[in-house]
Amino acid sequence: MKTKLTELLNIKYPILQGAMAWVSEANLAAAVSNAGGAGIIGTGGRDLTWVKEQIDLARTLTDKPFGVNVVLQDDDKDEKIELICNEKVSFVTLGAGNPVPYIEKLKNAGIKVIPVVPNTKLAKRVEASGADALIIEGMEAGGHIGKLTTLSLMTQVIPEIKIPVIAAGGFTEGRGLAAALIMGASGIQAGTRFYASKECVAHIDTKNAIVVAGDMGTEITGYISNHSIRSLKNKATDKYIELEKANAPYEELSKLRAGKARSAPFDGDVEWGLIQAGQSLSVITSINSCDEIINDFIKVAEESIEKLKKLK
Ligand SMILES: Cc1cc2nc3c(=O)[nH]c(=O)nc-3n(C[C@H](O)[C@H](O)[C@H](O)COP(=O)(O)O)c2cc1C
Repeated sequence: MKTKLTELLNIKYPILQGAMAWVSEANLAAAVSNAGGAGIIGTGGRDLTWVKEQIDLARTLTDKPFGVNVVLQDDDKDEKIELICNEKVSFVTLGAGNPVPYIEKLKNAGIKVIPVVPNTKLAKRVEASGADALIIEGMEAGGHIGKLTTLSLMTQVIPEIKIPVIAAGGFTEGRGLAAALIMGASGIQAGTRFYASKECVAHIDTKNAIVVAGDMGTEITGYISNHSIRSLKNKATDKYIELEKANAPYEELSKLRAGKARSAPFDGDVEWGLIQAGQSLSVITSINSCDEIINDFIKVAEESIEKLKKLK
């Protein structure tokens, strides 16, 4: 399946495995790349030694292109970008901050730059600043989210942008991929679906929690304070929302989240951990290999496109 994205990254299928802090490391990224998509190592919250080790490890696990994500809120973001420039990975995705100051430096190092954007204004800015592609991420997504849905972003951003646009948020199977391609996207980025994969190193209890959750299984916390995170509904999200409603100070709310994005995937803390996950959960019914997940995405997308052609 060829699109502007597969050509840009030299990959077989237009599917990126979205970076997931504390979840997507070399093993998962390499498995996705080996299956024909492109995996991404999530460096959010990690130190430089870990990032270097994971890039080295991924290179032993795959000879296919893979990416690295930098969370622009991290204090050591400049050092991480420097390291990535030296390592000359295939591409970088940049989220949670202003990517514009970093685009030129990364491009000069021969690295493709793909910022994650939540609206049309920033999409136009990153395109004008030389980004190679961009990811529009709707609020159906797991993790930190903006205010617009994936459909409204595809509707409004894609016609304004010439570089490849990748849609993210709520893609867990092939009909979604087909829909995104029909909307004019060059590919999709999926996070939650790959969280519940065999190669993902997250704790089995956390992966199972994603499998058993249904369409009403997530909750947004932090909406009022503009620090919105979508995660599985559990004791921690209930408590957070209770405190938010009671106008608890931001420090108290932050305390409730501290370390929890790590404890869920590391320790299987499904009650008080933060299991970041998107809304399209019902169709995730088992933990599969990345190969199975990607093949299924492509098979169902192709069938859906064929069905559409038969419409009169
Ligand atoms: C557990 C988790 C952690 C995430 N961490 C990051 C991150 O560190 N950086 C980033 O740019 N996006 C992050 N995201 C967003 C994903 O890269 C991706 O865009 C999102 O998961 C897509 O929506 P979906 O979950 O419905 O597939 C995270 C998502 C999840 C589920």
